[in-house]
Amino acid sequence: METQNLILLILLLFLRCSFSFVPIDNYLINCGSHNNVSQFNRVFISDSIKPGSNFLSSDDSISLTDKKPSQNLQILYHTARVFISTGRYRFNMKKNGTHLVRFHFFPFKAQSFDLKSAKFSVLVNGISILSEFRPSNDVVLKEYILKIESNLLEILFRPFKSGFGFVNAVEVFTAPEDFVIDYGTRLVGPSGVEEYKNFSSQVLETIHRINVGGMKITPFNDTLWRTWIPDEDFLVFKEAAKHAVSTDIPNYQKGGATREIAPENVYMTAQQMNRENSSLASRFNITWNFPVARDSVLHLIRLHFCDIVSPSLNLLYFDVYINGYIAYKDLDLSALTFHTLASPVYVDFVVHSDESGVIQISVGPSDLSSSIRINAILNGAEIMKMVNDVDNTKIVHRRKHLWELLCSIVGGIVVLFIAVTVFLLATKCRKREAKESAAESVGWTPLRMFGGSSLSRTSEHGSYGYLGMKIPFADVQTATNNFDRNLIIGSGGFGMVYKGVLRDNVKVAVKRGMPGSRQGLPEFHTEISVLSKIRHRHLVSLVGFCEENSEMILVYEYVEKGPLKKHLYGSSPQSPLNWKQRLEICIGAARGLHYLHTGFAQGIIHRDIKSTNILIDEDYVAKVADFGLSRSGPCINETHVSTGVKGSFGYLDPEYYRRQQLTDKSDVYSFGVVLFEVLCGRPAVDPQLTREQVNLAEWAIEWLQKGMLDHIVDPNLVGDIKPRSLKKFGETAEKCLAEYGVDRPTMGDVLWNLEYALQLQESASSASEAVNETTTISPENSRRLERNYDNDYSDISTSRVFSQLMNNEGR
Ligand SMILES: *[C@@H]1O[C@H](CO)[C@@H](O)[C@H](O)[C@H]1NC(C)=O
Ligand SMILES: *[C@@H]1O[C@H](CO)[C@@H](O)[C@H](O)[C@H]1NC(C)=O
Ligand SMILES: *[C@@H]1O[C@H](CO)[C@@H](O)[C@H](O)[C@H]1NC(C)=O
Ligand SMILES: *[C@@H]1O[C@H](CO)[C@@H](O)[C@H](O)[C@H]1NC(C)=O
Ligand SMILES: *[C@@H]1O[C@H](CO)[C@@H](O)[C@H](O)[C@H]1NC(C)=O
Ligand SMILES: *[C@@H]1O[C@H](CO)[C@@H](O)[C@H](O)[C@H]1NC(C)=O
Repeated sequence: METQNLILLILLLFLRCSFSFVPIDNYLINCGSHNNVSQFNRVFISDSIKPGSNFLSSDDSISLTDKKPSQNLQILYHTARVFISTGRYRFNMKKNGTHLVRFHFFPFKAQSFDLKSAKFSVLVNGISILSEFRPSNDVVLKEYILKIESNLLEILFRPFKSGFGFVNAVEVFTAPEDFVIDYGTRLVGPSGVEEYKNFSSQVLETIHRINVGGMKITPFNDTLWRTWIPDEDFLVFKEAAKHAVSTDIPNYQKGGATREIAPENVYMTAQQMNRENSSLASRFNITWNFPVARDSVLHLIRLHFCDIVSPSLNLLYFDVYINGYIAYKDLDLSALTFHTLASPVYVDFVVHSDESGVIQISVGPSDLSSSIRINAILNGAEIMKMVNDVDNTKIVHRRKHLWELLCSIVGGIVVLFIAVTVFLLATKCRKREAKESAAESVGWTPLRMFGGSSLSRTSEHGSYGYLGMKIPFADVQTATNNFDRNLIIGSGGFGMVYKGVLRDNVKVAVKRGMPGSRQGLPEFHTEISVLSKIRHRHLVSLVGFCEENSEMILVYEYVEKGPLKKHLYGSSPQSPLNWKQRLEICIGAARGLHYLHTGFAQGIIHRDIKSTNILIDEDYVAKVADFGLSRSGPCINETHVSTGVKGSFGYLDPEYYRRQQLTDKSDVYSFGVVLFEVLCGRPAVDPQLTREQVNLAEWAIEWLQKGMLDHIVDPNLVGDIKPRSLKKFGETAEKCLAEYGVDRPTMGDVLWNLEYALQLQESASSASEAVNETTTISPENSRRLERNYDNDYSDISTSRVFSQLMNNEGR
């Protein structure tokens, strides 16, 4: 009994610890005092000079004490260290990366010094962060967020002329991982939204930190000991806003905001549109003006959102404006939060301040919102000034050296060669296997999750709710006219796919496993129980299943316009998709994949992303198909590898050949190939072309790195794509195709960048420029204009050339 209690206690302690943030570097200094003091549960230690004192090095600094402190003043502010000449604190740093540095100033009056007359500068590792600073009457807290990349942090106080400097307390501590992410920050300005890179190299000074719609949050209640103040005083028109309050703890999620980004209380309150006041128009903005210095300096704006106002998902769409410029159009919190309601997210923006002395933030309803559901919200806002505003908004594209280019081409050929060899070996081995046990060629292997098997996951849920999805075999027969060959719409790794109509007139796609094998039935069940719970706008959903008569049949929703591939090339695309449609399809597919990777089921790897597995419905909404199913296990290194190779030639992660393992980043790779397919309107592998052109991924990267991506865009798109959208799209696809999985973005990042590419396409400011001004129809393009991919001709030739590679698979 006692040991049990002990274990419980340890567990509890562990849980508690895992909830509160413990910085690796953590220096809290009570300056000018001989005592340690505790404030907000943290101990600030004395800096009084003793020989060998770690922190302070100053020949003539003075410890000053306020003899008559005012009553409510915290003890931390009863003492100060005064610097008559330059003085410094030095801290040994254990960790490189982003840190928070805070200075507390309270100018009290002592006999020898009136701290109000101080005037001084402060430098951190040589960077001037405060110059000719004069503290006001009150307690002033200055907070800086900066990247430290050295083992020593030096803070220097330099008096101005014959004056002096002082400080009451200093904090230096490591910021949580991912506190500042460089990727995909939106630079908002008159020319629309651009990407701002590399802001983690800037020193940020916190100017405002606002708990919108809520109360003041003190360091005691904040995970990083911050203070958040209410927004009321900054509202331009108070009647426009109405408080929203939730009593439920927000659903923090992996990939979204964390408790360290902002505490629960920030996300549990918000301002929303006050639509009850009939004296207001039906559509209006809520606007805040935040005072800043009157000059042109870049600021980082971090806005916090958590949908605590909507009764369900996909109801809230709004626009965000900063300084009157559109900063985020049609913000869809449901999509950003992986389809969980009341889940916290934040979005970073970068904007120039101006002579007006305010930064204006507005939120207002988007055109997408239905007239019953007009709303817009904001939960929190942080405004930070870039102290050493180095202008690196102009991103210079680094050209690869020629030899690097050569290496990558040669490398690509080598990879292709290895790929062919591996496939040949694999096929041989499969043939052998097939001889040994014919039954094994059809089987179900379970869904691969990143953490743990799907089996344990389903037993956790312990529910067999999916059994209600059983469909009698007779019904399936009726629906497909007894598996009429004329109704075959495709063939998957495990058998044929038929179009069918169920009794209630619902159109379905019926996937029939090859009859005759009951092997893998438990896995079949596991699979269904997981698939049955996945419901997502961009994933083809399971309607039911059938397991009578030794059959294993899956019934899916029917997606009207079929595979994306058909609309890109091949059997005469009636009207070619325009660029916006293509972008929206890519965005939809990316959403679906992102959900598979991070959503409810957490960590399903698709393993076979290609343009035939992305379907399009009648409204051109993309739906990812064929996830979760797999063929028989691998025969390469068969004893240890638990991942079934499912990928298709031309889309397969090169890292697979090194690690023999498919990961979520393998999906990202395959998706990168699809992106180029969409852009160039040609198959991933086209054996009819010359050797350099066979493999789309390599060919496209080569042109991209030559800076000539516009030469290989689908001739149907010439004149339609705006250069900046093309550039962003190309960069994104290139990142997906990085050689190593770790260098590839996550699907979330890809999604973000595609949305950004769409925004660049739509932004009115660059309406005049389109690719056709820079593109003449190049020989590359015209040659492909002549080529025709009729009747999936290319597919046939692919399968002919690689028939040895694929013949056992029926794919
Ligand atoms: C203050 O705390 C430090 C570190 O915990 C300790 O070494 C020192 O003895 C303390 N000083 C006093 C005066 O308690
Ligand atoms: C931090 O980076 C600096 C410079 O790159 C290096 O000298 C130092 O060893 C690094 N420190 C740690 C703890 O990694
Ligand atoms: C980021 O900015 C810093 C300083 O502004 C610069 O030294 C560094 O090279 C930049 N990094 C990239 C990747 O642009
Ligand atoms: C902050 O913490 C104090 C002390 O625990 C508590 O009384 C107060 O309600 C908290 N404030 C909020 C906004 O949660
Ligand atoms: C509605 O707005 C008007 C100002 O336009 C204000 O005087 C009035 O108090 C508001 N009423 C409500 C219920 O908020
Ligand atoms: C909201 O503010 C922006 C920027 O000032 C403006 O363009 C837009 O028309 C406003 N929306 C409404 C509904 O007033």
